[in-house]
Amino acid sequence: RMHLTGINALSDDDLIFLLQLAQYYRALMRDDLDIPLRLKGRTQVNLFFENSTRTNCSFELAGKKLGADVIVVPVAASSVHKGEELQDTTQTLAAMGADAMVVRNKEHDTAEFVSSALGKAGIPCAVINAGEGTRSHPTQALLDAATMLESLGRTPDEGLKGITVAICGDIRHSRVAGSNAELLPRLGADVRFVGPEQLHPAATQYGHVERYTSLDQGLAGCDFVMALRMQMERMEGGYGMTNEEYHASFGLTHETLGLAGQHAKVLHPGPMNRGIEISGALADDRARSLILDQVAHGVTTRMAVLDALLTEQE
Ligand code: CP
Repeated sequence: RMHLTGINALSDDDLIFLLQLAQYYRALMRDDLDIPLRLKGRTQVNLFFENSTRTNCSFELAGKKLGADVIVVPVAASSVHKGEELQDTTQTLAAMGADAMVVRNKEHDTAEFVSSALGKAGIPCAVINAGEGTRSHPTQALLDAATMLESLGRTPDEGLKGITVAICGDIRHSRVAGSNAELLPRLGADVRFVGPEQLHPAATQYGHVERYTSLDQGLAGCDFVMALRMQMERMEGGYGMTNEEYHASFGLTHETLGLAGQHAKVLHPGPMNRGIEISGALADDRARSLILDQVAHGVTTRMAVLDALLTEQE
């Protein structure tokens, strides 16, 4: 069984194929056409050790639309709180006949660990990384790319050549930034990290990314600007400025998005903190904001991932 552990584990052909399949499901959903029940008889388990609205619900919906039986494990009420280890929880759920396990966890390399634990137990179950640690959230990056391609009217084959994407804010703690920094350059985009020095990751962590500490320079000439949430829960003692100071110097508003140009669109993986990394007025402006489009692409991109991992492709 194939797994989705991270962007770098996917070949270029895999990436293009997943984005093409995502466009196919997006077209079916948009035109209200019948969805083929390609996962009928399959079982999907969602196992989220961290909070989630978008990823958990969209994976559940994606599986159900394709006909799978979907179990969303109630982690707070599970035997995890009796001290059960990750290996035992995942092997137990897989032994019930799970074909796919969608896992979110705060530890790095969780999907690798789980796929190896299931492999050792001889259980064929696809493991999907639904966000782990501070580096990796591959299905978010895929849905972000799908959103940008649609906004540009491009196919995955055409990619993001000539396109510049600024990723702004708390990059240091962002698994979304990590996976996008791996994916978008492979599609041909120029990627920039923009934010105060203390919110940049270590310089050696990512290649292919330009770093900016001012919004004026960082946003100039960008086609897409992605705002990130300030992840206070992953910081000890704040980030050296108040939220008001951050908003004044790095917040995305209609005015600051204008630094990129009138054609530029804003994205945000959610959840948002209105008034900190992005103004409510910009977030709500469907002419400039792709945030709700990202959510819709979340369902169809995850349908593509489940289909690709669980079925034979013709
Ligand atoms: N973007 C994202 O991962 O959101 P959730 O934490 O709500 O799943």
